[in-house]
Amino acid sequence: MSIRLSDGRELPIEMHKIRIVQKVRLAPVRDRLRAIEAAGYNTFLLRTRDIFMDMLTDSGTNAMSDNQLAAMMVSDDAYAGSESFYKLEDAVKDIFGLQYLLPVHQGRAAEHLLAKVFVKPGNVVPMNYHFTTTKAHFELAGGTVLELYTPEALKTTSSCPFKGNMDLGRLEAAIREHGVEKIPFVRMEATTNLIGGQPFSMANLREVKKLIAPMGIPLVIDASLISENAYFIHEREEGYQNKSITEIIREMMAEADICYLSGRKSCSVRGGFIATNNKAHFDAISPWLPVYEGFYTYGGMSSKEIEAMAVGVREMTDLEVAGSSADMIKYFAGRLIEKNVPVVTPPGGLAAHLDAMKFIPHVPQLQYPAGALASALYLVSGIRGMERGTVSMDRDKDGNDVPSDIELLRLAIPRRVFTMSHVEYAVDRVEWLLAHANLIGGLKFYEEPPVLRFFAGKMEALGGWGAKLAEAFEKDFGPSC
Ligand code: F0G
Repeated sequence: MSIRLSDGRELPIEMHKIRIVQKVRLAPVRDRLRAIEAAGYNTFLLRTRDIFMDMLTDSGTNAMSDNQLAAMMVSDDAYAGSESFYKLEDAVKDIFGLQYLLPVHQGRAAEHLLAKVFVKPGNVVPMNYHFTTTKAHFELAGGTVLELYTPEALKTTSSCPFKGNMDLGRLEAAIREHGVEKIPFVRMEATTNLIGGQPFSMANLREVKKLIAPMGIPLVIDASLISENAYFIHEREEGYQNKSITEIIREMMAEADICYLSGRKSCSVRGGFIATNNKAHFDAISPWLPVYEGFYTYGGMSSKEIEAMAVGVREMTDLEVAGSSADMIKYFAGRLIEKNVPVVTPPGGLAAHLDAMKFIPHVPQLQYPAGALASALYLVSGIRGMERGTVSMDRDKDGNDVPSDIELLRLAIPRRVFTMSHVEYAVDRVEWLLAHANLIGGLKFYEEPPVLRFFAGKMEALGGWGAKLAEAFEKDFGPSC
């Protein structure tokens, strides 16, 4: 929720109070230099003791509510028939309107099962944009991902409210080109994570469904950030201002043949599920659940997380919860724009995103500008963001780098975790970094895993720019900051 101050400013206001806290440490810049060097300029490889603000992700890092924590205490650990599962099943029926539920340990486990059951070698899977793990699973099953976004999607500066929309003309052409039999399903990601948490509209979702349903192609919704997408529909799409988040989610789900999600985001837990009203789809997937995940009533999740998820699924539909990170992101991005920092607009869900190619245009794409910017910001602030650019793309079959469509530094706002002074600190350090952007150089891999290299790959700062940046920072702020 945002509140209007007497001078007209809009302020995201915390509709909660903080009752349990976790201590953080602001390591001095020399320690941060040592830490990022040891991490191979990969923010995934930092330890949290060296991190002041962890903006890597909102995945599994949201503040849980008192009711979620309380629910964990009454979980039922039965291997089979756990009562905790039935509470989650009820919540999914009530909020999503979906009858059949398959719990899984997290989102990519759902993707693995969907790939295993539906994606065959030579298949193509149209989607509004890929996610890293989605692409990995569908490709491992022999499929190819087709990203059918609109021209607006990749413009980092835009006023388009629904950059997550699918381009219907491109979808139609793709179906004509590849043939219905090659398309196991169409996937719509509720807020396209990798291009800035951008939502699709209800109208677009309906159009996609209208096109593919008569051909018998199922629609799969990745609902990991469903409450945020619903919130944006509520805020931005005509006719939805008086509808509740639950009504909007229900309306979206009425179009879906299968819904899956990572419960680590909107639901504020650590888990995931697949849900559907289609018995045939359920029957096709469910035999594999105990093989890869766990028995039908826990699917690899701890019963405590299942209990908390049953509460989280309901709580995420509270307008104040659905909008809690989106409103703070809007404020954060707005403050950065005031400082002339290139950020993705309109602000989306999950994070504020800096456009690395505009921030450090002198760093060529194959020297990984988004990765370099992530390391540089950590160095000057202790803030850990995430590279969402070419490092996050694996090499092609011939071993060549695949340049990402856009190079973003993602600064995630986990729900209910940061305060306004944290946000103002982040704005200040990004502003300082922009003024010293010429000190940032490129990166080069010296250790590189073959799949999802961004998780564990190690790089070096070309020309030793890390040490020079640390030196400039120390000159301005002293050794202890
Ligand atoms: N789909 C989307 C849209 C996601 O954002 C994620 C994860 C997944 C699937 C996979 O789910 O992590 O539970 O296995 N996104 C995280 C992130 C990792 O940081 O954005 P998972």
